[in-house]
Amino acid sequence: MTCQPIIWADRTLKIIDQTLLPTELVWVELPSVTTVWDAIKQLQVRGAPAIGICAAFGVLVGLVARKPENLAAAQESVSESARYLATSRPTAVNLFWALERMEGVAGALPATTTPQAFFERLEQEALTILAEDLETGLSIGRFGAHLVHEGAGVLTHCNAGSLATGGHGTALSVLYQAHAQGRRFRVYADETRPLLQGARLTAWELQRAGIDTTLICDNAAAQVMREGKIDLIIVGADRVAANGDTANKIGTYGVAVLAEAHGIPLYVAAPVSTLDPALADGDQIPIEERGGEEVTGGFGKVTAPAGIKVYNPAFDVTPASLIAGIITECGVVTPPYEGSLLQIFRNTRKT
Ligand code: MRU
Repeated sequence: MTCQPIIWADRTLKIIDQTLLPTELVWVELPSVTTVWDAIKQLQVRGAPAIGICAAFGVLVGLVARKPENLAAAQESVSESARYLATSRPTAVNLFWALERMEGVAGALPATTTPQAFFERLEQEALTILAEDLETGLSIGRFGAHLVHEGAGVLTHCNAGSLATGGHGTALSVLYQAHAQGRRFRVYADETRPLLQGARLTAWELQRAGIDTTLICDNAAAQVMREGKIDLIIVGADRVAANGDTANKIGTYGVAVLAEAHGIPLYVAAPVSTLDPALADGDQIPIEERGGEEVTGGFGKVTAPAGIKVYNPAFDVTPASLIAGIITECGVVTPPYEGSLLQIFRNTRKT
């Protein structure tokens, strides 16, 4: 039982407001490019693939609002929206990938294109990005499902599920497929401080799907591994460098170090749109730093003294040496990653 968090219908963009989950399932309309930017920034929509999809539709929202009268004005609207939306969050490369794709299509249309035809072609591209993501999620799940054995204990961090994508997830797609294949296994979901994507979103999704799920505090992961409860770790990714170094939600690197200490394989599930072959290694991945209030009072309760200094990086980089494999829609890539990731990227790149 997966869900689609982003809907485009009648030239209107709607998303599930993920900041309200798990207590409220509320759809909100994003009527302007500014509201799309805010929704991405405030994590109403989040997760690398979902951010890219939402931004692609955000470009359409800009066109609907501006109603350009000729091709030049339509192209300018797309460029302006893309430039602006690209400033919302820095780490997930899917955002830039989707916006570049929209701009590429806009820039390649012939001079005779009418504003109506322009809009329809751009709309088709955004819908294709969404449709491809749905297909991609299923493929990742199919390629990774065999890793989840009968009776296994699986740990995941943050949310790489339906909510983080067009609808099927990446890391959680693997679990959904294994579940659909009839295997019984237990999932341990890290709550994922400071914004609790694991507790609020992953636990919600997996429970709805009828998968045996146990929520743990992030700092319980070592003990749970030591108790022998974890056989496999699967996480998502926000950006994978050419050498396999992977940026994902803050805390993933720590989980990976623990996994190595306990001899547990850690797999990354990520679509090709999350690969960034332009970056040789993870040191070059921009890490978003978010406001200290997320740490000192994220859910309305003050939990630290006023004026305390806070450092709040939203992502970290797990070195490729700690990753047993990267599950993509083209198959499971194992070390060494250089070359094979680049090859997959070249073979599948659509634009
Ligand atoms: O800050 P978020 O919630 O956008 O972070 C999301 C993650 O880190 C996910 O694990 C990642 O985007 C993979 S989503 C399939």
